[in-house]
Amino acid sequence: MEKLQELIKSADTLKALEEVRIEIFGKKGVLALEFAKMKSVPNEEKKAFAQNLNIQKAKLTDIYETKRLVLESFALRQMMREDGVDVTLFNGINESGALHPVNETMNKIIDYFVSMNFSLEEGSFIEDDFHNFEALNLPKHHPARDMQDTFYLNDDLVLRTHTSPVQIRTMMREDVKPPIRMISPGSVFRRDFDVTHTPMFHQIEGLVVDKAGEISFANLKFILEDFLRYMFGDVKVRFRPSFFPFTEPSAEVDISCVFCDGLGCRICSKTGWLEVLGSGMVDPNVFKAVGEGYEDVSGYAFGLGVERFAMLIHKIPDLRSLFEGDIRLLEQFR
Ligand code: PHE
Repeated sequence: MEKLQELIKSADTLKALEEVRIEIFGKKGVLALEFAKMKSVPNEEKKAFAQNLNIQKAKLTDIYETKRLVLESFALRQMMREDGVDVTLFNGINESGALHPVNETMNKIIDYFVSMNFSLEEGSFIEDDFHNFEALNLPKHHPARDMQDTFYLNDDLVLRTHTSPVQIRTMMREDVKPPIRMISPGSVFRRDFDVTHTPMFHQIEGLVVDKAGEISFANLKFILEDFLRYMFGDVKVRFRPSFFPFTEPSAEVDISCVFCDGLGCRICSKTGWLEVLGSGMVDPNVFKAVGEGYEDVSGYAFGLGVERFAMLIHKIPDLRSLFEGDIRLLEQFR
């Protein structure tokens, strides 16, 4: 048996090993011959004889498998050396992919707010009337609903028109109580289609709630100014009085036009300003709708459109092109 082990170990090519395998394990090999001797072994010794033989066979198999693996990897390495390709050679074609500009912009925005200790909350695309409108101080037949006319699934269910329902869902969660600092990114849907609107787009909602008096408009102003400079560099930021049913007071936020540096051009309609987000102090009626635990709180909220940010950052003239899947547009961002 020792000799057989040596025989296996001394095979130095796969071909030589294969010959040894046939010699030992083959139909007419050494082991087969040994097992054949069983017949002539006296009955009371048969068991011990077979046991011993099986142990020897297992040992040989083990040595054989090890040897085979070693020789195979050796052969593979030799083959690679002989007809190797130099993988470090630059082929002149850059085929690497990249994030879609909407995702890239979304990630950048999320990074900012996460670094400011905001949590990430999720809602759902299909919302009911209560969360999308009613609790946000948009009662039935309120004219402001028209601004967000949308896709209804039935009398009660809509494809959400904004991410604001996630404010309500988060505040009403049993495991959540103020203080709250959250953002919520995701798709929203509206019946719009022109150079600056698509029926599906992405928003990021923000909500901060704490004890009454702890959160003021100054906090809102600080965070949004800081955020917009992080996104757009050295721009001017302006808060313009506006109206949203779920905030009071409300402000739309403008930055100085990134195309003309605020001088006035076609894109900013000669005003020098670009509107980039909606914001305000949370309306008391919203806290009322949320109910328990929100009797004595104050807060601010804001919402922004991710595509609009991507357009301004990359100077993309038609928002719809972001969703046409034209590889020539996407190639510019890799
Ligand atoms: N939900 C508003 C919209 O879609 C944006 C907004 C969010 C405004 C939060 C104020 C506060 O237009």
